[in-house]
Amino acid sequence: MIQINIATRNQSNTSVLPISAETQLTSSGETVRNDASISSFLSSNEHQGEFGFIRTVYGAHQRTVFVGTGEIEKLTLQKLRALSSKTAQELNKSSMAHADIYFTEIDVPEATMADKVQAIAEGFWLGLYTFDHHQTKEKKESTSLETLSIIVDENSQGAENALAAAKAISAGTIFARNLGNEPGNVCTPEYLGDQAAALSHPKLKVTVMDKEDIIDAGFTALLAVNQGSAKEPRFIVMEYNGADNNDAPIALVGKGLTFDAGGISIKPSPAMDEMKFDMCGAAAVLGIFKAITEMSLPVNVLGVIPSTENLLGGAAYKPGDIVKTYKGLTIEVLNTDAEGRVILSDALAYAAEKKPAEIIDFATLTGACVIALGGQATGLIGTGEEIKDGLKASGQRTHDRVWELPMFEEYQEQIDSKIADIKNTGGREAGTITAACFLSRFVDDIPWAHLDIAGTAWNMKGNDISPVGGATGAGVRLVVDYLRYKGK
Ligand code: BES
Ligand code: MN
Ligand code: ZN
Repeated sequence: MIQINIATRNQSNTSVLPISAETQLTSSGETVRNDASISSFLSSNEHQGEFGFIRTVYGAHQRTVFVGTGEIEKLTLQKLRALSSKTAQELNKSSMAHADIYFTEIDVPEATMADKVQAIAEGFWLGLYTFDHHQTKEKKESTSLETLSIIVDENSQGAENALAAAKAISAGTIFARNLGNEPGNVCTPEYLGDQAAALSHPKLKVTVMDKEDIIDAGFTALLAVNQGSAKEPRFIVMEYNGADNNDAPIALVGKGLTFDAGGISIKPSPAMDEMKFDMCGAAAVLGIFKAITEMSLPVNVLGVIPSTENLLGGAAYKPGDIVKTYKGLTIEVLNTDAEGRVILSDALAYAAEKKPAEIIDFATLTGACVIALGGQATGLIGTGEEIKDGLKASGQRTHDRVWELPMFEEYQEQIDSKIADIKNTGGREAGTITAACFLSRFVDDIPWAHLDIAGTAWNMKGNDISPVGGATGAGVRLVVDYLRYKGK
């Protein structure tokens, strides 16, 4: 990650200045309006202020990068992140080592200075993200960019704190993206366990259970899904005691399928490679732990990750099998490809047993959610009304958005089984909801929210702040914000 700092005056000879659709400049822009190169640029006829416009103007001693904001009234923090991300990519292509960015002068309705600093820094760091370490050829352009100064009118603790938060949150998001993007032959259950164990903080305890521990503990549903794989499963438990008291923790549970071929109910070949992303729920939990430990957030959080592959080895679990869970409930497996809910059953029951104040789970759970919401919102379902309200508010603030689907009682009948307690598919109708109904059987009466990130966890085309295609880190910014502002 490049260096970003806060400053009150220019630090270099490269300034990044906003310009609106009405070609209005901010106060710092006005001070350089009469500079010869800038005035000739401003009087030229090419349109200058449309959203995302970017142009470098070279003066005798300085460079000015103009970035179009579009119509000022339509600005939002997300647009600010997107502009910052775009600027980062542009500066990265040039030979500049340092730049000063004047984006805090942009008026964003209802946003504070701290909000703007955080958005600028996050957009910049996330915009520079790449995943190219598996390419052995020498890179054409090596980065020259070293530092960015975010210019503010007066140095405040608020701006410094916002920058520090942005740094931790970006690092957490990048950690989640990296885990998601690593292919299935690198990112195995063992690898996820090692990555969790490598997180370190005086108030964090990480326990990684191997197959033997998992057998001893009785996570039989996880073992059933693991039967078709030659690789050992892992069950990861993370305990962060940031509040330094005995308050019940918030439990975060993440689906860690390091590759989902569907098992005996095998998936079709096209795009099956994308099932290396089926551990993005686990990646979100790990990314959140990275961020909250770096921020030393004053909260208690329990993280639980069940991890395995879903393959078709000779011992694989089969359609028709009845599987016993850690909680004791039995599952009739009608489709081995509905494996996420099977392994989550053990993780949720384990989390519930620890009596947390609430449970939030993250899972690339259903193709139906991709159909319903696409990549624009994570599916939200659950029994915890306050959690859901908090997550919706955090979704608005971060633009890591959620959209609620109902879990009416009547949907529960769809997963009734004639020969076991429940079955692992509820038919084609309301697939995202019946998957949540299945999970609901394992959380007891603890307030719970389920996040189906199947549509948001990766994006092959890239988006505003995930410019390279692949894992987006969905859920990290959302839930770090939730934990930060909870009860405030
Ligand atoms: N990991 C998939 C869900 C998924 C599919 C995520 C496509 C992203 C894109 C999950 O394990 C799965 O296969 N779910 C099945 C459930 C069905 C068999 C009831 C699905 O959604 O098709
Ligand atoms: Mn599956
Ligand atoms: Zn899956």
